[in-house]
Amino acid sequence: SVSSAFDFAPNLFPLSSTAQGYTALGAPSNPALDPSNALNGGSLEKNKSLTYLNGLSLVVGLIIGSGIFSSPSQVNKNAGSMGASLVVWVIAGILAWTGAASYAELGGAIPLNGGAQVYLSKIFGEWAGFLFTWCAVCVLKPGSAAIIAIIFGEYLVRAIIGADAVDASTWLNKGVALVGLVFVTLLNCVSTKLGTRSADVFMFMKFFALLGVTVIGIVVAVTGLSYKGHASEDWKNQGWFDGTTTDVSNWAVALYAGLWAFDGWDNVNYVTGEFKNPTKDLPRVIHTSLPLVIVSYLLANVSYFFVLPTAVIESSNTVAVAFGSQVFGPIGSLILALFVSGSCFGALNATTFTSGRLVYAAGKEGYLPALFGNIGLGKSHRAIRLHTLNANPSKSKFKRLFIDLFADADAGFFFTPIAAMGLNALLTAVYIVIGSFDTLVTFYGVAGYTFYFLSVLGLIVLRVKEPELPRPYRTWITTPIIFCCVSLFLLSRAVYAEPIQTLLVLAFMAAGLIVWFGWVGRNRNKESGRFRRVGEGDEKVGWRFWKRWRT
Ligand code: ARG
Repeated sequence: SVSSAFDFAPNLFPLSSTAQGYTALGAPSNPALDPSNALNGGSLEKNKSLTYLNGLSLVVGLIIGSGIFSSPSQVNKNAGSMGASLVVWVIAGILAWTGAASYAELGGAIPLNGGAQVYLSKIFGEWAGFLFTWCAVCVLKPGSAAIIAIIFGEYLVRAIIGADAVDASTWLNKGVALVGLVFVTLLNCVSTKLGTRSADVFMFMKFFALLGVTVIGIVVAVTGLSYKGHASEDWKNQGWFDGTTTDVSNWAVALYAGLWAFDGWDNVNYVTGEFKNPTKDLPRVIHTSLPLVIVSYLLANVSYFFVLPTAVIESSNTVAVAFGSQVFGPIGSLILALFVSGSCFGALNATTFTSGRLVYAAGKEGYLPALFGNIGLGKSHRAIRLHTLNANPSKSKFKRLFIDLFADADAGFFFTPIAAMGLNALLTAVYIVIGSFDTLVTFYGVAGYTFYFLSVLGLIVLRVKEPELPRPYRTWITTPIIFCCVSLFLLSRAVYAEPIQTLLVLAFMAAGLIVWFGWVGRNRNKESGRFRRVGEGDEKVGWRFWKRWRT
């Protein structure tokens, strides 16, 4: 049962960035791996327990992550001035806000787990859902994990070797990022619970870091006090819009960096079905959480400007370390570096958990080789493990705790989608090695916004095609239109702004279409009816959750 916002959030957070496609793709063979079970003790419709405050903390917690501590450099570099950067943050925030409102309507109209994969399948046909899953497996999941791991590496290296090592070797950063990735992957291969239990600590770290930055910056601006004696004067002496870029492509690149910090709003869907009172609370949650995040990001950026010269903000992805060092000296930078790397570690853990489930679901569904739909170390593994557990009942408190941590109610040690997580880790490692924060953020943004755009376009299509469909939450029609226009602009600029990343994304999509139309799609049983359009004989076919959720 949910007793407070924080009780709830740690449970959902690791699943947040989402077990896309998991239950939607077919009945899970193991209830312990079913996110809906993990979330609600087994039954979704019994547990409509979310209140307004739960939802609020959940959405805010899903969105805030590495971005506000790493994107400012790229935003400022490309926007060209302090004022223009703030404008970029506002536009990115509004895009996230309209996107979240649109997704909430979709989530209510198509109340199935699986996010974009299900919406696209239902609205445009299964090929679109496949393409999303394909890109999620190849680009979105490992891409976002790589970004978070890189920021983790950069912050942790600064925590260890000192804030002023601005030029710390890229390879040292990447090495630490890779170690973090391997560690987190192993953790998630061993046990499902281990990571989930620590989530609230990491959650606390990021709120603390963000709040700290905001409050401290304002105090410094008012009092003029700081360890290094002088805070930046740039904000007093420079015109706020001096140097603003006139190149549209620069605006697009800056926006992609800002959008990274707001990413995660698509997970609003994970709350749509869970409210006691969705019609009233869901809009309240969306229309307060997104403005809250926007305002706190703007304040954090203003704080950076109050404390740091713009040249310093632009020079590294670890703006919070420079900030801590300026205000409190080495101790300050150490504390901020630890908190931000902790926050990133938590995010990496969450994304590893959910990516594993996504790849696993794709394997089960036949979207990927069946190997990736395997659980554990092999067929006999489960039997062996259960035997071991039963054969060694232990009264030692420590051992019980250990078993409790590592062993799931139904599953246990290594009873996780190991092959799936291995694939995800491998792809993530490749991106860490060949990419950088700046390049990956655009790469991720182009791929991500293609699907956000398609889903929100689908909302408009659905309004036309299925006007009668019950929609617990109905957004103002301008919302998806604004979203589609802005994201279309963004996508159309990408090819000029960052041709290599864009072409790479297009290549992945083309490959996905070839795989679908040449192979996977052809072999699908057309009669299974698993992916029909909304409303077409849903009562007859295999959407297990459809009827249950509709009420
Ligand atoms: N906004 C988050 C951050 O700043 C990124 C969330 C990644 N997105 C996702 N769906 N997992 O780090």
